[in-house]
Amino acid sequence: MVDFMDGISMTIEKAIILAAGRGTRLRPLTHTIPKQAIPVANRPIIHYVLEQLNCAGIREIGIVVSPDNREQIKRSIDRNPWELKFEFIEQKLPLGLAHAVIVCKEFLKEEPFLMYLGDNLSGGSLDGILRTFESTNADATLMLKEVINPQQFGIAEIGEEGEITRVIEKPENPKSNLAIIGTYCFSSKIHQATASIVPSKRGELEITDAIQHLFANGGIVNSETLDSWWFDCGTKDDLLEANKTILDESISRLIEGNVSDDSKIDGQVEVGEGTTINNSQIMGSVKIGKNSVIANSVIESATSIGSECSINNSTLQNTILMDNGTISNVKEVENSVIGKNSSVMSHSKFVGNIQLMIGDDTEILL
Ligand code: TTP
Repeated sequence: MVDFMDGISMTIEKAIILAAGRGTRLRPLTHTIPKQAIPVANRPIIHYVLEQLNCAGIREIGIVVSPDNREQIKRSIDRNPWELKFEFIEQKLPLGLAHAVIVCKEFLKEEPFLMYLGDNLSGGSLDGILRTFESTNADATLMLKEVINPQQFGIAEIGEEGEITRVIEKPENPKSNLAIIGTYCFSSKIHQATASIVPSKRGELEITDAIQHLFANGGIVNSETLDSWWFDCGTKDDLLEANKTILDESISRLIEGNVSDDSKIDGQVEVGEGTTINNSQIMGSVKIGKNSVIANSVIESATSIGSECSINNSTLQNTILMDNGTISNVKEVENSVIGKNSSVMSHSKFVGNIQLMIGDDTEILL
């Protein structure tokens, strides 16, 4: 039990994080790294989820993995600074979010739980949704957020009193712009609902259908609206937006590496231990990991650079460069996501601006 300061006591002690799925929209990156382990501001996405769960006092975490990504997901959280209790639950095929709940049945038993999509990032805390779920004795509490493209999401329709009247997956003619984002609380009644639905046109057991079933059978379904930022990190642009938002929000000036006198550092910049910066300009918000070398270069805002990277005679902007990356002699790399151990180089200075989405272990010679 977790006691909130105002005396409401919580019964949710378990969460499931959904981290199976194919990640097709983030290929080629997701051929070698699960989406949930992609670094945003130099930390795997799933770390932010675990941090929020830990802050909410939820310590028993079931992580839904695929047979292919199990080991990588495990490795990405093996340091476990939160000392959370993990159970890895295999979903053999990504047959839908409601199917993921079915495979967690043994872990969840008849207990209420929080479900979090492992590729989602949001600001704020989970206290609001937990409070609403508990205080209203709900069977489902859905976190909602206004979006500009409701056709692409599961959507909640709301009645005059603010109550949910219908949930619908990716409506062609949406009657609401309130997306059901990746955080839900459920009572054990969801298991009967997931067992009662059939696959949708796209062949998945949809969580929206299970929620609609709950609702149609007298379950209490309500919502909490998120008033902070939220990203579903499904595409390159989402990843870069999330990276920018987290850099702007979370980093402070912290220089642990060596900055030469002929370099200039402006704004919120973190430079990790062992990193050297020579004859370069860094304009925050920028985060640079450990043991990297930046020389004769300009690093502009919204850029995350991993550890063991080398950047020479180049400019980077609004970019995620993962560990052991090399950029050399490129006038401007912008709006790019570059996987681990990859290099982008030119023998003479390449004068164009380039935007890249490349996976691990890639070499590009311009
Ligand atoms: P999605 O982004 O809907 O699907 P995906 O990860 O396969 O990506 P894409 O659409 O680009 O192919 O999944 C949302 C989250 O839920 C993500 O963390 C993966 C997870 N998931 C499961 O764990 N099991 C599933 O059956 C599905 C569909 C998704």
